[in-house]
Amino acid sequence: MSNWQKSDWRNKPRIQMPEYLDQDKLNAVEAQLSSFPVLVFAGEARRLKEALGAASRGEAFLLQGGDCAESFAQFNSDAIRDTFKVMLQMAMVLTYGAKVPVVKVGRMAGQFAKPRSADMETVNGVELPSYRGDIINEIEFTPEARIPDPDKMLRAYTQAAATLNLLRAFSTGGYADVHQVHAWTLGFTKGENAAKYRAMAERIGDTLDFMKAAGIDSERAHTLQSVDFYTSHEALLLEYEEALTRVDSTTGKWLAGSGHMMWIGDRTRQPDGAHVEFCRGVSNPIGMKCGPTMTSEDLKVLMAKLNPENEAGRLTLIARFGAGQVADHLPRLIQTVKEEGANVLWTCDAMHGNTIKSASGFKTRPFESVLREVREFFGIHAAEGTIPGGVHFEMTGQDVTECTGGVRAVSDEDLSSRYHTACDPRLNASQSLELAFLVAEELSAFREGRAALAG
Ligand code: PEP
Ligand code: CO
Repeated sequence: MSNWQKSDWRNKPRIQMPEYLDQDKLNAVEAQLSSFPVLVFAGEARRLKEALGAASRGEAFLLQGGDCAESFAQFNSDAIRDTFKVMLQMAMVLTYGAKVPVVKVGRMAGQFAKPRSADMETVNGVELPSYRGDIINEIEFTPEARIPDPDKMLRAYTQAAATLNLLRAFSTGGYADVHQVHAWTLGFTKGENAAKYRAMAERIGDTLDFMKAAGIDSERAHTLQSVDFYTSHEALLLEYEEALTRVDSTTGKWLAGSGHMMWIGDRTRQPDGAHVEFCRGVSNPIGMKCGPTMTSEDLKVLMAKLNPENEAGRLTLIARFGAGQVADHLPRLIQTVKEEGANVLWTCDAMHGNTIKSASGFKTRPFESVLREVREFFGIHAAEGTIPGGVHFEMTGQDVTECTGGVRAVSDEDLSSRYHTACDPRLNASQSLELAFLVAEELSAFREGRAALAG
């Protein structure tokens, strides 16, 4: 990658990015961002890459989750703490249930820019440019609000820095709440699975109590006191990404300094497009969304471009086909990976192929479809002899009503009650935890099956 420059993407076709009207203002913002400290460090990104490499071999499991779009208006410490907490709970359930270390990566501290299916939005006969995330324009439906404003990048940087600061404090400060396991499932009163979840939470609680009694409590056990928690977002707004990209002084390699892991969205993965050009040159772990339109030919080219040295942990393929469609697409892409002998981590985004419009008019995702896609993903990997290495969810620690279903069932009519997302519908805290119990079952069955085969 010796000749690659962080601005090379500017010579490639750009899509899903705003046309800023005030070029001078844009230049000034980019110059300012370029002078600011980066948010993450090369050693951290390297450590994440090693952990993802372990996940690609089945020695760990990736849990990636957080908002569809972080918002300026809903920025507060409780929301960050609660999402962090639910992710830690989910990780504990997965670790306990499947006996495997969990790599925790938030869609946090930078997940602001959104690709859209249409450039324009029409409401009551009025047509305006689409909302593209708080780092670009505003969600309010007025002509002024929809004008892209470069200054929003500075606000996003500040919010990302403050978010990361809090996450770092939680990660190293022995965040105690998460050990109060008995409280996790208090809301799980009904439903066929509720008793099963409570029983498992109790067993996790007992294990932690035992460790404490044996003197391996959070005071002493380094692994419980500090967790590795990483950040990720879609590298969509390349002016922002370029300004925070620097050469790491110890290795001489480029690092995108806005987050540990960057991913390329399903709409911006053209092999000759700007986004692939940017991501191929930075040394961070890279994710790539693979939807139904991903061809085997493109995948081949993309793997060669994004991971020419076939490094473990460098490339995560994030399958997002939709429940009922995994069997139509995943086997042929797995075949391509096998043919190329490529090292990849396979993970399942069970959200983006399962968005529907509810009878009440809200964009939603049925819990059942999310779970079904995860199960299909595991089933196909079992059949192919490959590794289902992780899951990717849009979720929040808040008690929202955006996805339907779950043991504490959210109905179509409930959606209007606490529908707060700035973009796609998220699993709430209870749905996220429930899903972790169910994924733990899948993962543990998969691992037992593999162990049996290995004899
Ligand atoms: C997202 O992850 O929010 C997203 C837009 O996903 P995709 O690119 O897979 O549609
Ligand atoms: Co989304």
